[in-house]
Amino acid sequence: MKMLFEPVDLGGIKIKNRIMMAPMCMYSAKDGVVSPFHMAHLGARAVGGVGLIIVEATGVSPEGRISPYDAGIWNEKQATAFKPVVEFCKSCGSVMGIQLAHAGRKASTNAPWLGERPLKQEEGAWQVLAPSAIPFDAGYPVPKEMDGDDIKKVVKDFANAAKNADLAGFDVIEIHAAHGYLLNEFLSPISNKRKDKYGGSLENRTRLLLEIIEAIKSGSWPKNKPIFVRISAVDWVDGGFDLESSVALAKMLKNNGVSLIDCSSGGISPAAKMNIYSGYQLGFAKEIKEKAGIAVSGVGLITKPEFADFILSSGTADMVEMGRELLRNPYWPLNAAHKLGVDIEWPKQYLRAKL
Ligand SMILES: Cc1cc2nc3c(=O)[nH]c(=O)nc-3n(C[C@H](O)[C@H](O)[C@H](O)COP(=O)(O)O)c2cc1C
Repeated sequence: MKMLFEPVDLGGIKIKNRIMMAPMCMYSAKDGVVSPFHMAHLGARAVGGVGLIIVEATGVSPEGRISPYDAGIWNEKQATAFKPVVEFCKSCGSVMGIQLAHAGRKASTNAPWLGERPLKQEEGAWQVLAPSAIPFDAGYPVPKEMDGDDIKKVVKDFANAAKNADLAGFDVIEIHAAHGYLLNEFLSPISNKRKDKYGGSLENRTRLLLEIIEAIKSGSWPKNKPIFVRISAVDWVDGGFDLESSVALAKMLKNNGVSLIDCSSGGISPAAKMNIYSGYQLGFAKEIKEKAGIAVSGVGLITKPEFADFILSSGTADMVEMGRELLRNPYWPLNAAHKLGVDIEWPKQYLRAKL
């Protein structure tokens, strides 16, 4: 048996293999409500054999969306629309997770294919929020520095979104604290220049994330369903969030009941200098796993089944997470099993095509 197809238990949830679909915004929702596109898109990856699907960054509030077309989960209508999608994917044997997100100073932008740039007033731009009034880049709006009430609202919004995610049938929530969005902005000294208890020391910069986790746990997210957190392990900018801080953060998250750290990187600054190749973020995952003693997922340009299996057998990560390769090939897991010589269960409707 190859490790890629060995089941795993993460925070009490059993997953049939180690293949995780990375959260990917599809910019195809209306008023945050998912559409038939999502059934086809997520359903195809479930039919294709993905063990754990993490649904795209989903807004915890209207102002927390990256664009007007993002999925949302701040109300019951949105949760109800997710239900059949979640139910279908689960019927295929996939565990369903959802990424809960607030875009902070990178909110209020257009869909990529409409020009990835901040919305103009006449396009319905809204006031963006951040720990400090520092724009992401030239041409981006100056965010409002969040006051105490804004912070309280974000904590409540995440807890409410988690409640709705449970209603929709999700078994995992992943808190988006990566890629330069709101919670990453609080973590990073590049974007957080606050003088109050939410800025300065690492303890202060992690406070909002930990308050959110506490609110989710003491709210209606069931105790037997795990919480994951996606982080940018490094900012790739001098003076930014670094791996040492990530290890310290991972230890805090573990102590607060988080079951997995999804190890990504970058996004806080357009000045980031990244060297990108297959598996370029795996070193971060390995170090966090080893030093914080917590399960991790590794992501970034992973495409080959043999490499995916090696990531697991070498103890680098507990889950292999893929984005674009699964967009190109929704049946990647079925093909990978064949390539690695592992006999896995195929969807019964497709049995006559089994490799
Ligand atoms: C179309 C697209 C949308 C994405 N949306 C999200 C998102 O919603 N949340 C997130 O954390 N990362 C997002 N990402 C990043 C991916 O989750 C992943 O980390 C990245 O693509 C690297 O993995 P890959 O090389 O396997 O694609 C997105 C990537 C793509 C290509």
